[in-house]
Amino acid sequence: MDDLSKTALITGASMGIGLDLAVLAARDGYDCILISRNEPRLHELKKVLEKRYRIQVHVFAMDLSEHGAAKRLTHAIEEAGLTVDFLINNAGFGTAGAFADLDAETEAEEVRLNVNALTELTKAYLPEMVARNHGYVLNVASVAAFQPGPYMAVYYATKAYVLSLTEALHAEVKGTGVHVSVLCPGPTDTDFFNRAGSELMMSKMPSHLVAFFGYKGVMQNKRVIVPGLSNQLLVGFAKLMPRALSLEILRRVQKPGETATPETT
Ligand SMILES: NC(=O)c1ccc[n+]([C@@H]2O[C@H](COP(=O)([O-])OP(=O)(O)OC[C@H]3O[C@@H](n4cnc5c(N)ncnc54)[C@H](OP(=O)(O)O)[C@@H]3O)[C@@H](O)[C@H]2O)c1
Repeated sequence: MDDLSKTALITGASMGIGLDLAVLAARDGYDCILISRNEPRLHELKKVLEKRYRIQVHVFAMDLSEHGAAKRLTHAIEEAGLTVDFLINNAGFGTAGAFADLDAETEAEEVRLNVNALTELTKAYLPEMVARNHGYVLNVASVAAFQPGPYMAVYYATKAYVLSLTEALHAEVKGTGVHVSVLCPGPTDTDFFNRAGSELMMSKMPSHLVAFFGYKGVMQNKRVIVPGLSNQLLVGFAKLMPRALSLEILRRVQKPGETATPETT
């Protein structure tokens, strides 16, 4: 592969963890394909990255939660003659509240973005990487992936899917030269909580640090990347704790109106 023309596709690159991952990829010499719904923000980022890192940046503004969006995106990328060497499936959002009360269409969008688009993009680009014996896939899940989460039930379930899928693919591509990793952040200082409509009264990790650990982890072919000691402890507890107990704890602390915990992300 020509290292001078390597290309990274980053979903959710307009802000937060995705933006920081895009900066790291650009700094590493990757041309970038930036995806989100916010075209002006992506063009601003394009200007900065092209000037600072002398790479090429391609912008595809689209809503990946729409039916068929991933297919339209991969078609547009093919039309532009681009190859994807590094896929970063980062775009995602959460909904907070009782399953019975939350809007059905919003939760369907959440599943289409967090699960369907991620799966379809991986399906589009992983086989080419395996054929080339080279490539990277970084899927963004959450510490929420390690247990079910009452009052954020759909979000936790989508992230459990991302963790499970990515770990399985990591095993499938073993020995091919392709790296597949899952990044499981804890609370991170981004716009995520605003959009989820949930308040989190605790310290959050800066998104550039989360991105740094994710980027380094996939380069090192780590299967699961949990940034930060407190998040690693949290995941350790989640694995050891009986399901009934963790469900009861989360049921109490995530009940709307109650104080949230780290596991609300
Ligand atoms: N922040 C946390 O505490 C935390 C913890 C664990 C995991 N995560 C995960 O980390 C990932 C990034 O989240 P973040 O914290 O960086 O949140 P964020 O600041 O809200 O960024 C989300 C990104 O996804 C994009 N996006 C959202 N909906 C989209 C759609 N329908 N189509 C295309 N792009 C869309 C957003 O861009 P536009 O709005 O411009 O479309 C934005 O670039 C998510 O998968 C999230 O679940 C976050």
